[in-house]
Parts: sequence; C-alpha cells; structure tokens
Amino acid sequence: MEIFKAVLFCVAAYLLLWNVYILIFNKGVPNIRTAPAIRRRIIDTLKSDMAKKGGAKNGAPRYTIYDMGSGNGLLTREIAKAIPDARVIGVEASRQCIEWSDKVKTAQNIPNLEYRRADFFEHDFGDADAVVVFLSVYEMGRVGEKLMKNLKSGTLVTSNRFPLTGWAVEEKVKVLTLYPFQKYFHIYHHP
Ligand SMILES: C[S@@+](CC[C@H](N)C(=O)[O-])C[C@H]1O[C@@H](n2cnc3c(N)ncnc32)[C@H](O)[C@@H]1O
Repeated sequence: MEIFKAVLFCVAAYLLLWNVYILIFNKGVPNIRTAPAIRRRIIDTLKSDMAKKGGAKNGAPRYTIYDMGSGNGLLTREIAKAIPDARVIGVEASRQCIEWSDKVKTAQNIPNLEYRRADFFEHDFGDADAVVVFLSVYEMGRVGEKLMKNLKSGTLVTSNRFPLTGWAVEEKVKVLTLYPFQKYFHIYHHP
C-alpha cells in the first residue's frame, strides 16, 4: 500500500511539474510533435501546392513555408529535406527549442532552413506561400484570426488535429497513425 501511495505521489508530482513547465515556457501549449504519418501527408500536400504554384522560381523569392510553433524542429527538418527548393522557417517562442533546432540544423547541414525566436502572434507571415500549424484547441480562434488578416490570398494552411476557427475547410484528411489523438489534419487556402 505504501509503495502504491509513493508511485501515485511521483506520478502526480511529475504531471504537476510538466504542466507548470508548459505554462511557463511554452505559453500553455504542450510541445507534442506531429505524428510521422501526418508529417508525410503534410509534406505531400506542400509539394503538390508548390508544383501548382509553379515550383521553385529561379532568382525570384522561393516558395516559403512557415511552421507556426516549430517546437523541437523535427517537422521543419523533414519538410526542408524533402523540399530542398523551398525556404522553410520555424517560428518558436521557447528558447530551448530554438537552441536545439539550430544545433540539429547545423549538425545536419540543412541550408534552406532557418529558425526565428518570436511570439508568432507578433510575427509577419505576409511572405508565406504555406503555413503549417499544430497548436492547442484554445489558440485556434486567435490563430485563425491572425492568419486571416496576415496571409496573402492563396496561401496554403494545414492544421493538424484542430480546425482553424473562422476558415472554410477545403479538406479534412483522415490519416492512420499510432498516436491516439492525431487522426486528422485540415487543409485550407486563404480566400
Ligand atoms: C504542439 S507543438 C508543435 C511542434 C511542431 N510544429 C510539430 O507540428 O511537430 C506547438 C509549439 O508551438 C509553440 N508555441 C505556442 N504558442 C506560441 C507562440 N505564441 N509563439 C511561438 N511559439 C508558440 C510551443 O512552444 C510548441 O513548441
């Protein structure tokens, strides 16, 4: 019985500390990564949008993809490697995440990838051709409003798991994953 109480106490303390960490360092958004199968489908969606928009433009500004809240950078790295002609930018509030992402980017030598430490609500996404999003359900209202005001017409937006408030969803893509809470992502184009 004593052991059971001790285990329960440790689990409760861990959950409490984890939530305090998320609240203080991650603006209340858990740093959970997009599931591998969804990452692959998002990359396919980006590739086909880029091809429809004329692919890479020689000399002219390239197809620019933002990850709004890039976390530890795994999704941005996979996108940048899979689409070397695109410019990929991760915007992230957490200093630790940015430092880690920069380190891995340098170690893996990914020239078309960059990170910016910023609150994405303050960041200008006006040059985006595509924005990928995986954020908390509580942020989808503000995020939807911000992107509606800030993006240029025709910009592709994908949102993992939660739909963007105020946007007409073009496609809700069902994906088979091992992650219990990640089964869909949403596709939009700015009107
Ligand atoms: C669920 S993770 C998503 C990671 C990655 N984009 C992916 O899909 O695998 C969300 C990230 O958004 C970041 N974030 C939340 N609110 C933010 C804000 N206002 N500005 C910048 N980053 C933010 C969090 O720190 C967290 O790392």
